[in-house]
Amino acid sequence: MRDQIGDDGIQVLVRFARLASETGRGSDVLPLVADALVDYVGADAVAVVEIGNDGKARFITSPHLPRELEALAIEPDAIGEELESQLLAACDGRFAQVRARPLVSRGGLFGSVVMFFKSRERPQRLDLAEGLVDLAAITLGSSTQIAHLAESHAELRASQEVLFRSEKMRALGEMAAGVSHDLKNILNPLSLHLQLIERALTSGDVPGAQESAAVCRRVLKRGVETIDRLGEYSRQSPESPHEPVDLNRLVHEASELACPRMVARGGRLTLVKEELGSPSPILARSGEIVSALVNLLVNAIDATQDGGTITLRTGEQGSESWVQVADDGPGMPPEVKARVFEPFFTTKGVRGSGLGLAMVYASVQRHGGSIELETAPGRGTTFTLKFPRAPLAKV
Ligand SMILES: Nc1ncnc2c1ncn2[C@@H]1O[C@H](COP(=O)(O)OP(=O)(O)OP(=O)(O)O)[C@@H](O)[C@H]1O
Ligand SMILES: [Mg+2]
Repeated sequence: MRDQIGDDGIQVLVRFARLASETGRGSDVLPLVADALVDYVGADAVAVVEIGNDGKARFITSPHLPRELEALAIEPDAIGEELESQLLAACDGRFAQVRARPLVSRGGLFGSVVMFFKSRERPQRLDLAEGLVDLAAITLGSSTQIAHLAESHAELRASQEVLFRSEKMRALGEMAAGVSHDLKNILNPLSLHLQLIERALTSGDVPGAQESAAVCRRVLKRGVETIDRLGEYSRQSPESPHEPVDLNRLVHEASELACPRMVARGGRLTLVKEELGSPSPILARSGEIVSALVNLLVNAIDATQDGGTITLRTGEQGSESWVQVADDGPGMPPEVKARVFEPFFTTKGVRGSGLGLAMVYASVQRHGGSIELETAPGRGTTFTLKFPRAPLAKV
């Protein structure tokens, strides 16, 4: 190639290659090659013919080309030598030579660059001209491929974002349902304690009214914390910090919130026993752990509808503190046991939403803890929540 086109030709090719790589966009390369053919190679006119997606051939750029030639209808099949003779005939003697170089990329033939010369051009110049056209075709081919890649990449990203958003909405929906479920459990004792306040006020029992008012305050505080969890989840508000908490205190609070359900439930009496040890504090968000214990207690209360005993235990083992909610209700068959932590799994029909244990599971996970479930038909049910002990320095 070097012998054929000489040093100045190589420089032209190099200059063109640089220009072409700088334009970045494939569609800019063809006007550039047309200009280069006029400026560096000495063509008197250049026309670029492109075969569109509709399979039709048309002029897309044609510096110095007489108007009537631009209007010529070009047959897509006549893109090579046939095109040269068709155009030479149409020139009406204004040009002595017409050279058409096909534009070929990996995708096949996509057009042609046609050069018009007033006098017959030297073969070296023609080689240089064809080299430029081939270079343009390669540049165009690769930039089209890059554009396709960029397009598919953008499409992929867009669909990923849609997926991510809908996944997030689904998760947020589940979380909202879970939080409203916990909120119902927590606010449940309010009406009972308000009734007690009313009764105490009528009978002049001021300490009794004060005691119930204090319970209402605690209930409302936990209720607000529960709503805040939803805000944290959707990143509308910062996460509340974990602090050292005593599991025994949380057990008392959870019984205070859950036990009024027994009154509302009716049925036979359930005895609630406490066998509390001295577990080391854990680092936790107490509101979340209280909600989890209320969920376990409410399930145990539901399971002992016909009377029974619920035992609350705490203790520690190794580097973990634990809390247990056990009942001597009917227990669960293996197929129920296997699914209890699934969101929306319930055996209670319309009375249950199946979110209680899913919320317990998520909260324990967030605290780096674990859950154990022991149950069998006729053998009662025991849930044990285990949490890492708080580091001593932080207590
Ligand atoms: N202590 C228990 N004894 C027997 N079965 C239980 C007990 N705890 C949970 N289950 C079973 O696990 C299922 C799922 O419990 P979960 O708390 O997630 O939902 P739910 O209690 O049915 O409804 P919700 O808590 O939304 O009111 C229950 O429907 C029940 O079949
Ligand atoms: Mg439940």
